[in-house]
Amino acid sequence: MSGNTIELFDLLARWVHVIAGIMWIGNSLLFNWLDRSLVSPRTHGQTKRPLGTIWLLHSGGFYYVEKTLLEGEDMPAPLHWFKWQAYTTWLSGVALLFIVYYAGGRASMVDSSAGTLTHVTASLIGISAILGGWILYELAQRVIAPRAPVVASIIWIGGFVAIAIALTHVLSGRAAFIHLGAMMATIMAGNVFWTIVPSQRALVASASGSSGADPAISARAKRVSIHNNYFTFPVIVLMVSNHFPGIYGHRLNWLLLLVLVAGGAGVRHVLNIRWTFPQWKPVLGAFIGSTMLLLWAIMIFGASTSAASAVAGTGPGSFEDARHVIDRRCAVCHSERPTDMSFGGAPAGVMFDTPEQIMAHAARIRERAVIQRTMPPGNKTNIDEAERSILDRWSGGQVNSH
Ligand code: HEC
Repeated sequence: MSGNTIELFDLLARWVHVIAGIMWIGNSLLFNWLDRSLVSPRTHGQTKRPLGTIWLLHSGGFYYVEKTLLEGEDMPAPLHWFKWQAYTTWLSGVALLFIVYYAGGRASMVDSSAGTLTHVTASLIGISAILGGWILYELAQRVIAPRAPVVASIIWIGGFVAIAIALTHVLSGRAAFIHLGAMMATIMAGNVFWTIVPSQRALVASASGSSGADPAISARAKRVSIHNNYFTFPVIVLMVSNHFPGIYGHRLNWLLLLVLVAGGAGVRHVLNIRWTFPQWKPVLGAFIGSTMLLLWAIMIFGASTSAASAVAGTGPGSFEDARHVIDRRCAVCHSERPTDMSFGGAPAGVMFDTPEQIMAHAARIRERAVIQRTMPPGNKTNIDEAERSILDRWSGGQVNSH
């Protein structure tokens, strides 16, 4: 398949994935908000016994929502379930993993200057991490949580940290971040499929009098819904992490990842408690600020002492030498007519065909190939240290003279 065809499949799967994801997470946030904002019937002076009611204003009308357990009333029809948003998000996400990573060539999964794994092995490790994390979670929830929910959470968080550290050390940073996001998202979709929807089925059955609700399932559903709520922000940040090579390509990327996940869950927590916690706004601001500060500190103080400068060669580098390296190691992709078509056209629209184009990108070339070392992706074209040093000396001169 040509790069353009793959790019179109990528586009389609990503488009569906983002829309389904917005619907899933959007609904989950809306229902979470509804549940916490419902007005209890006593203050409403109602005679019926709903669990709560609320008035909403949206798109040209007033909406009245009432939450009830039906208690003897007929089962309404049609009754709307919300489950395909979750399944569609997960299925399109799996498609994206195959399109971008498992069919994307070795450079998408491993960094050739760091790892020796083959593409197949790396892909199998990625898939095993997703399944392993999910199985660990399910076991903890089914076996341990009914008696000791806190212990179950600690076990799973420990497992997550271990998998995160392992994966960021064997896979490329970009692949590791996405696989950890996919693992959390698989747990979320699994919670919908294996626990939340069965518990809703039991609720429907008990409301129509055909059987009593299974208390074990409904207790588990209550627990895992809370987990899904806390997972939303971390999963989203891991999914968009592909745009931040300074983070996924960092030497301490595993630590940055853990800070991001903890920060996302923490923000979710402050937003969850805001109904009963009047000072939530400054706390939220302080929490976001300190998370960003921590990320910044790790990125700056944890940076490796410029690996390239440790290599022989000092003084300013000439443009000719740099251009030679770029022709050999970058232009297969970054050209108007790329010979490596695995990414479709010139990636990110960046081309290095003319001196002007190269000069114009000096700062980003330095950032990506010298400081972060995230270009070439997975070091697909085998750039070596001496060549990075040439780019370092040339681009250092360019960047400083501006
Ligand atoms: C195998 C193909 C490939 C090779 C070889 C390659 N790149 Fe890239 N490059 C990409 C892809 C894909 C993107 C877009 C995704 C991203 O930014 O990570 C990109 C994006 C970029 C960007 C624009 C995004 C930004 O951060 O500013 C720059 C600059 C860049 N590459 C520099 C380089 C340099 C310098 C080299 C050679 C040392 C190189 N690339 C080699 C595939 C390649």
